[in-house]
Amino acid sequence: MGAEIAHINILESNKVAQLALPRLGFNYVRRFLELRLDMEKTRWPDMEQSPLQYRHLKQGEEELLTAVQNSSFTGTWGFSPNTLADIVFRLNIGSRSPEDVVLAYDGDNAIGYCWTETASDLTSNTARDMGRISMIGIVPAYQGRGFGKWVLMGGLAQLKKRGLPAIELTVDSQNKAACSLYKSAGFKVRTGSFWYEKPVN
Ligand SMILES: CC(C)(COP(=O)(O)OP(=O)(O)OC[C@H]1O[C@@H](n2cnc3c(N)ncnc32)[C@H](O)[C@@H]1OP(=O)(O)O)[C@@H](O)C(=O)NCCC(=O)NCCS
Repeated sequence: MGAEIAHINILESNKVAQLALPRLGFNYVRRFLELRLDMEKTRWPDMEQSPLQYRHLKQGEEELLTAVQNSSFTGTWGFSPNTLADIVFRLNIGSRSPEDVVLAYDGDNAIGYCWTETASDLTSNTARDMGRISMIGIVPAYQGRGFGKWVLMGGLAQLKKRGLPAIELTVDSQNKAACSLYKSAGFKVRTGSFWYEKPVN
């Protein structure tokens, strides 16, 4: 398939895989954290105070999401740009739909997005009665300026309407901005997972 590196992700409780993977030529590279937010304990900001405007992604706007996602994640560990076909596929697996994605605007500019999921979607690795933030991103010109909270709250507000008791997500433990953002919002560490990689050519 032309890949240069194979990645594999295991739960930190999986001691057998931790012994086996190095013997198979995989090197440990990263720890990820599995976080959970108890929706009842969440302090909700007044969304009227948000400097951003929000709307759902619509069918036919997959190219816009592809551009915002690829721009937001440029330079982050492990990310390779998504094609339009990848995005169309991910938006429509199982019970997912473009409406799950909340776009955040500063005037006419789409500056970020929050991609939500619910556990009724059987492809999710989240427990049945949970919601999930599967992706969140802010375009580089707006990063580090305090917009993260408002984009996250846009996604959480959408999940809140569905009456879900808790929301989960996965974050790279070395992604300082993302970890701070989630901690400030009240997410707690549930468990961790380890990424390994192996050159394959
Ligand atoms: C992660 C991301 C959504 C955060 O949004 P942001 O608007 O850049 O972040 P904010 O300015 O709102 O800051 C959020 C917190 O991170 C801290 N922070 C921001 N940039 C930081 C940096 N470069 N290093 C360390 N901390 C940082 C802020 O001080 C703030 O902390 P606080 O909540 O304790 O006050 C955004 O940076 C992004 O899109 N990054 C690339 C894609 C990505 O990594 N997505 C997350 C995948 S899980």
